[in-house]
Amino acid sequence: MPTTLALDIYGTLIDPLAVKTALIDHVGDEAGAFAETWRSKQLEYSFRRGLMGAWRNFSDVTRAALDFTCEMFGATISANDKNTLMGHYRELDAFPDVSPALTALQQNGVALHALSNGVADDISALLAHAGLNDRIASIVSVDEVQTYKPDPRFYAHFLKRTEAKAATTWLVSANPFDVIGAAACGWRTVWVKRNPNMVFDPWEQAPTVTVSALTDLLALPDFKK
Ligand code: 2OP
Repeated sequence: MPTTLALDIYGTLIDPLAVKTALIDHVGDEAGAFAETWRSKQLEYSFRRGLMGAWRNFSDVTRAALDFTCEMFGATISANDKNTLMGHYRELDAFPDVSPALTALQQNGVALHALSNGVADDISALLAHAGLNDRIASIVSVDEVQTYKPDPRFYAHFLKRTEAKAATTWLVSANPFDVIGAAACGWRTVWVKRNPNMVFDPWEQAPTVTVSALTDLLALPDFKK
């Protein structure tokens, strides 16, 4: 059975905080802090909606988090400008290590799939913008099960959809909650810790491997030819 990689998208392949460039016009020096609050509220809302069984897709969740963040920062951003900011969420750049790593992994015969909270159409637009879509075999979105990571039902759904086995599947994510969710389902996991100051949650599960860039994966036996 070939090795399967389930690649998280936001925060792992694509940098959601890069939206701060588009925020400078609206909130100036607070753009970085605004982008971080927007991202953290987006995730909080996804967890809450998953727990409540109150489904809204990730685009709706992201928009609600933007509305909250505007209120919190006292920023008056018109509906049109909010739509433009949401559009930026479909055109974010990939981290620089991603493209060379995915090319080499694909050449080594590793099956590469996206596994994301995002709406499939948004993920497809992001991958196309970043020039990565030719390397991703399929996009598996939470929309298909209408719950959010780290709900175990979503990781189980991924295995069914891609006909993969937990024992030969690795989750690759920069988000500790995602690593923990997949590890709890018996997968092996890679935590992508690009920021050396980032702390992993104290939990029953730890990542199988921690890397500082996706290209580090190529040194591991499972991902060699
Ligand atoms: C993703 O699923 C967790 O936001 C992250 O792409």
